[in-house]
Amino acid sequence: MSPKPVILDVDPGHDDAVALMLACGHPGLDLLAVTTVAGNVPLQKTTRNALRVLSLVGRTDVPVGAGASKPLKRPLHTAEDIHGKSGLDGPEEIPEATFGPDERGAVELIAATLQSSSEPVNLVPVGPLTNIAAFLRTHPDLKDRIARISLMGGSIGLGNTTPAAEFNIYVDPEAAREVFESGLPITMSGLDVTHQAGAGPAERERLRATGRVGGVVAGFLDFFAAAYEEVFGFDAPPLHDPVAVAAVLAPDLLKTRPMRVDVECESDLTRGETVCDFYGVTGRAPNAEVGVELDREGFFELLYGALGRL
Ligand code: BDR
Ligand code: CA
Repeated sequence: MSPKPVILDVDPGHDDAVALMLACGHPGLDLLAVTTVAGNVPLQKTTRNALRVLSLVGRTDVPVGAGASKPLKRPLHTAEDIHGKSGLDGPEEIPEATFGPDERGAVELIAATLQSSSEPVNLVPVGPLTNIAAFLRTHPDLKDRIARISLMGGSIGLGNTTPAAEFNIYVDPEAAREVFESGLPITMSGLDVTHQAGAGPAERERLRATGRVGGVVAGFLDFFAAAYEEVFGFDAPPLHDPVAVAAVLAPDLLKTRPMRVDVECESDLTRGETVCDFYGVTGRAPNAEVGVELDREGFFELLYGALGRL
């Protein structure tokens, strides 16, 4: 089978970095472009981090378009408590990038990439959905060039930024609402499944053993693990974002259910909640395939294999 074409939209972020590496290291994907968004840390830092990660894995051929520096309607809310000041804190700094961002920027890079691809492309947004909403507003004519949106965000159940809301959706709920209402095929990997992708000490050791890049990953995941333990009391930090990549690579790893997902944008109490109609009680047509269970072992095997190839 020929590799599936993908564009990753990221706000690195430790788990974003691993998502990028999975997309670079697995022969089942053709990473056509990367776009960056403000989220875990401001845009300048997420762009720097994306460029550094791609340089580390030798993929300076992938164009990186910098996108939105703030959400559509709100001030930016960041997550330095989890990702550190740089967005990718760890015991050692990842070396500076050996290339710079593409002058087109995120929206025009996505447009040009879709136009020049011979087949529809999978969009994998794993940060706030600002760039994707902006793209859909600017280029509605290119919607049919998108095969699927496989996103990390939201939750059927609990939130991680407020009791009700997951970080990526909380940061830009208006953008998320536009994306969920776009009519495009969507796979949502929310906290319900990404919390099943916890990288405990055993998984981090296996990652380390995969080689040079695995060693760097295991190092920065030690920082991520300590942050997750302190903030959430988790003994294994979740590799949220690679789950959305895995859902494109190997859809069988993610069990999903079709659901109607609506995004709360107004309420002070529940803003950013993804209200998932699990039982179909509204009678409204589903707009997303929502992840309900992850094949954890299969997911980590995929990751070990990909990192070992880098
Ligand atoms: C999401 O928030 C970010 O901190 C992570 O990179 C992930 O995309 C998890 O809620
Ligand atoms: Ca992210």
